[in-house]
Amino acid sequence: MKKIVVFTGAGVSADSGLATFRDSDGLWASYRIEDVCTPEALAHNRATVIGFYNMRRREMLAAQPNAGHEAIAGLERDFEVEVLTQNVDDLHERAGSSKVTHLHGELTCLRSSRNPDLVAPLDAPAPDGALLRPHIVFFGEAVPMFERAAQIARTADIMVVVGTSLAVYPAASLVRYVRPGIPIYVVDPGNPDTAGIRNPLTLIRKRAAEGMPELAALLRERYKG
Ligand code: OAD
Repeated sequence: MKKIVVFTGAGVSADSGLATFRDSDGLWASYRIEDVCTPEALAHNRATVIGFYNMRRREMLAAQPNAGHEAIAGLERDFEVEVLTQNVDDLHERAGSSKVTHLHGELTCLRSSRNPDLVAPLDAPAPDGALLRPHIVFFGEAVPMFERAAQIARTADIMVVVGTSLAVYPAASLVRYVRPGIPIYVVDPGNPDTAGIRNPLTLIRKRAAEGMPELAALLRERYKG
């Protein structure tokens, strides 16, 4: 059975009504990264940071997975599938994807501000009694899941990239960890930075909810063993 590694960004959740970051109507058009997504902001402007992520949580809970998330989950019927996502929402899991690695953290959890390994569900008591903080990788912080994600990317027979500008590193460099010659399919209606992709590339310029089900059909036709 072929292995598909699916690498996603905010665009896969755009059709569920969640804003992306760098599009003209994206979050970074209304907020400054340094006000809500840095360790310094959390230290000096805690209420603003917490308020920003509480808003993201409310929107996530009101949203539903779209046909893009569902098509990705459905690939598990015919392929071995691992999802590597930059998203902090849980829409891949709610659509039924069983192996999801979150590179930039998760809104459904909080973590100890003293020990980054102590992660707890939202409603659990603080695991070590220290102040809790969003389980989000802020700009300027290390990306602890990157090594694991790179390792998974190396095992791909096919890579699918959906709804990411490929602008944020190290996450964006995952497209360089696939083995030479492995095909990469990109679903995105905009202009993701594909300059770093050295593998055979197919760009499908469509929204995730439309392009991903089409790509799933094509992958079955071409690669289903
Ligand atoms: P961006 O906002 O940078 O990019 C969103 C991508 O989704 C763009 O390439 C859009 O063209 C595409 N897009 C828009 N609508 C779409 C749709 N309906 N279907 C498919 N694609 C669509 O978001 P990311 O690449 O995810 O990090 O951003 C990476 C990281 O930057 C995020 O994880 C976040 C952010 O700052 C942190 O907060 C740490």
